[in-house]
Amino acid sequence: MAAIRILFDEAQIKRRVGELAQEIAQTMPPDMMIVGLLTGSFMFVADLARELARLGHAPRIGFLRLSSYGQGRESSGRVKLTGDVPDVAGHQVLLVDDIVDTGRTQAFARDLLLDAGAQSVQACLLVDKPSRREVEVPTEFIGFSIGDLFVVGYGIDYADQYRQLPYIGTID
Ligand code: IMP
Ligand code: MG
Repeated sequence: MAAIRILFDEAQIKRRVGELAQEIAQTMPPDMMIVGLLTGSFMFVADLARELARLGHAPRIGFLRLSSYGQGRESSGRVKLTGDVPDVAGHQVLLVDDIVDTGRTQAFARDLLLDAGAQSVQACLLVDKPSRREVEVPTEFIGFSIGDLFVVGYGIDYADQYRQLPYIGTID
């Protein structure tokens, strides 16, 4: 494993996820539906769902598998659906992902969910890289904003490694 410089440690992530859950609980209905993007959001969704449960919310939880990244660090620029779409018809959806970078994945997923009959879609991203945006997309709930850095950990991978780390950091 390469050397990792920690940007956000376990305690910082836990605190921020708790704060995000509070913000979400104030604006979204208790019976909302969480749709996480696989694979990167799995850890974030698991922690966010438990924080929302502590606040009395009872979200349905589903996942969507999209792909755009190959094995490298740059997005291929094309996003495609590679699995089933959860039944979101009539639901107020919270679209959850690990990172918003160019914005293409968010734009694609939002359109897909609205086409599938979601009543509304709001997005929650743990990490935002605003300087990298190529497509304007709404980002209602943001955990951390960073510069143009490549990060791993807490679900986020580099070539399918590092997802297991309890913290978020950069690799050289
Ligand atoms: P976008 O479509 O360019 O916004 O890219 C979003 C997707 O790219 C996220 O779902 C991530 O999986 C991936 N991604 C973007 N930046 C990073 C990074 O720094 N590390 C690992 N994956 C990333
Ligand atoms: Mg991803």
